[in-house]
Amino acid sequence: MLKTGRGAEAPPFLVMDVITAANARAAALPPGAPGVLRMEVGQPSTGAPRGAAEAAIRALRAGAPMGYTEAFGLRSLRERIARHYADKYGAVVPAGRIAVTVGASGAFPLAFLAAFDPGDRVAMAAPFYPPYANILTALGMVPQLLPCDATTRFQPTLAMLEALDPRPEGLILASPCNPAGTMLSPEALAAIARWCHANGVRLVSDEIYHGLSYGMKEATAAAVSESAVVVNSFSKYFSMTGWRIGWLVLPEDLLRPVECLAQNLFISAPHVAQIAAEAAFDCAEELEANKAVYRRNRDVLLAGLPGAGLDRLAEADGAFYLWADIGHLSNDSVAFAARMLAEAGIAATPGVDFDRERGHRFLRLSYCGAEPAMAEAPERLRRWLRG
Ligand SMILES: Cc1ncc(COP(=O)(O)O)c(C=O)c1O
Repeated sequence: MLKTGRGAEAPPFLVMDVITAANARAAALPPGAPGVLRMEVGQPSTGAPRGAAEAAIRALRAGAPMGYTEAFGLRSLRERIARHYADKYGAVVPAGRIAVTVGASGAFPLAFLAAFDPGDRVAMAAPFYPPYANILTALGMVPQLLPCDATTRFQPTLAMLEALDPRPEGLILASPCNPAGTMLSPEALAAIARWCHANGVRLVSDEIYHGLSYGMKEATAAAVSESAVVVNSFSKYFSMTGWRIGWLVLPEDLLRPVECLAQNLFISAPHVAQIAAEAAFDCAEELEANKAVYRRNRDVLLAGLPGAGLDRLAEADGAFYLWADIGHLSNDSVAFAARMLAEAGIAATPGVDFDRERGHRFLRLSYCGAEPAMAEAPERLRRWLRG
C-alpha cells in the first residue's frame, strides 16, 4: 500500500457537505413546492457590486492580457487597500506591507508557513472557523483550543492566554467571529495584541467580517501591533466570494518570506478579479444597502426565532451568523440539521463543524440570504418544532 501524507487526513469543511445536501434536496423538490431556505452558507446572495463587475468587463473588452501579476498583486490595488486603512481606521499601513492573496483562504497557508514550524501550538477560541484548525493540522502545527462561551461572548480573554502553559507560538483572533458573530471591543483587541507582541506570540487577526458590524466599533490589529499578521478578504462585506481575492497586512519580518512562498504556491491572485476588487472600494452605496439587508434579516430572526423554539442565541455583533444552542432539542446537531433540511426545508450548519467537543448541541444559522426567505424561516421552524 502506498503512503498518504498528513494532509490526506484533513477533515471535511462540513458546511460544504451541507451545501451539497441542500442542493440535492432543492433539485429533488416537485415543481411549485416551497423551496429550501438556505441558512447554511456564509455567502452573500447579492453577488459582486455592479461597479466591480463593470470594471472587469471593461478591462476584458479593452483586451487586457490578464496575465500573472506580481506575487503580491497589482500595485494600484495594494495602494487602494492601504488607503482603506487610512480612511476606515485612521491607520498608516504602507502599500508595501500589503499582499493580495487568493481569498483569505489563500492567505492562511502563507501566514502559517511563514510564521510557524511543525509542532508549534497556535491558540484559538472554540467554536472557531474550521479551516484554521484543519490547515494548521495539515501543516503539522497544533491547534490549541480555548473553550469559550456566552460569558466571554465566545472570544478569548487575556486571562485565558496568561493561563496557557506552555505558551503557544501563535494566536488566531477573529472579530467579528464565525460562527458566533461576536466581537472583541477595540480595547480588548488592543490589549491582546500588545500581550502577544510582548510575549513572543504571533497574532493572526482574521478581519474578514469587518464592514459587517451592527453597532460595535471595528478595530484592526494592524493599528496596534507591528508584529501581527492581518487577514482580510473581498468575500464578505464586498460580496465577492467567487472572485477569490483577499489580502494580508504583513509585519516587516514576514514580508520577504511570504512573498517567496506566494511566488511558489500561487504565483499570483487572478488578475481580472484584482481589477474588480479595486473598483469595489467605490461601490459603497450598493454595499451599504446589502449590509442593511443583513441587519434587517438579523433583527427579524432575533425577534422571531425564540418564539419558534430557538431561544438560546448568541448576541451577534456582526458578520451574518447566529450561533444557536439547541441542547434542549437535540444532542446530535448533525442528525438535527439533516432532519430540519428534510422535514422543514431549512438548511443550517451543524455545530460540530466549529466545535468538535460541544458543537453537537449547536447550529449555525446564516442570514445573508434574501429577505423574504429569512422572514419565512421563523414560521417554518415554528411549524416544524411546535407542530
Ligand atoms: C472567518 C473566516 N475566515 C476566512 C474565510 C475564507 O474566506 P475567503 O477565502 O472566501 O476569503 C471565511 C469564509 O467563510 C471565514 O468565515
